[in-house]
Amino acid sequence: MGRTIAIANQKGGVGKSTTAINLSACLAEMGKKVLAIDIDPQGNTTSGLGIEKDDVENTVYELLLGDSSIQECIIPLEFDNLSLIPSNVNLAGAEIELIDVEGKEYVLRNAVDEVREEYDFIIIDCPPSLNMLTINAMTTADSVLVPIQCEYYALEGLSQLMHTIDLVQDRLNASLEIEGVVFTMYDARRNLSLQVVENVKNSLNQNIYKTIIPRNVRLAEAPSYGLPINYYDSKSTGAESYRLLAEEVIHKGDESWQ
Ligand SMILES: Nc1ncnc2c1ncn2[C@@H]1O[C@H](COP(=O)(O)OP(=O)(O)OP(=O)(O)O)[C@@H](O)[C@H]1O
Ligand SMILES: [Mg+2]
Repeated sequence: MGRTIAIANQKGGVGKSTTAINLSACLAEMGKKVLAIDIDPQGNTTSGLGIEKDDVENTVYELLLGDSSIQECIIPLEFDNLSLIPSNVNLAGAEIELIDVEGKEYVLRNAVDEVREEYDFIIIDCPPSLNMLTINAMTTADSVLVPIQCEYYALEGLSQLMHTIDLVQDRLNASLEIEGVVFTMYDARRNLSLQVVENVKNSLNQNIYKTIIPRNVRLAEAPSYGLPINYYDSKSTGAESYRLLAEEVIHKGDESWQ
């Protein structure tokens, strides 16, 4: 059975979209059938995967409001095994429009249920807030993957995120798990990065991915070309690290894998 993973942290700029784009593409490169869903009005996963966000007609916004079917929203990409449900700034209005909708917490889940069996992985890129869009991602997902930037204040807001995940588990999606934490933008030349990793390891009782994503300029450049890192610079440290993360994600739970 496939797995649906929401990439969430309400802190902005921690590497959610970079992880959504490149984890999706590396899983796809390994032969997994992957659907990336962009549920952030900023549309960074959409543009980062080469789709002109203002030109798309059927986005996650139309999907949430029931104006388009999920089949209409899925764009097969030029990258093998990878498809996308795009987003753009229109989605910013969705929260208000959903207020009176019955079962508004489950709109995405109900749509995704129609296609879930067609994919090995569904990766959802969340906005930097704990709003109804993020709640929809968490009711749709099997697990939440939390990118943490190796910076001061890395832990800020994490307890709020964990509390939200607890609430969703209690009230909306009892089977939601925490996939784990992945450190991003690690800078080996800075003591601070190492301190943050140690500090988070000591204070968070969560699965922490062994793979640490380094700060790598190629990862920052790739979105402006609309390419995931394995297509933009396949040999970069950024590509190698997201491949390792994809392997870990695939093998999570398999005790024999080291
Ligand atoms: N490992 C990395 N090395 C270098 N730059 C990175 C790396 N990861 C992310 N970045 C850059 O940092 C910025 C923030 O990353 P990203 O957009 O992935 O974060 P985000 O959590 O999705 O942000 P938002 O909260 O706004 O959605 C981007 O400019 C991105 O290119
Ligand atoms: Mg983002």
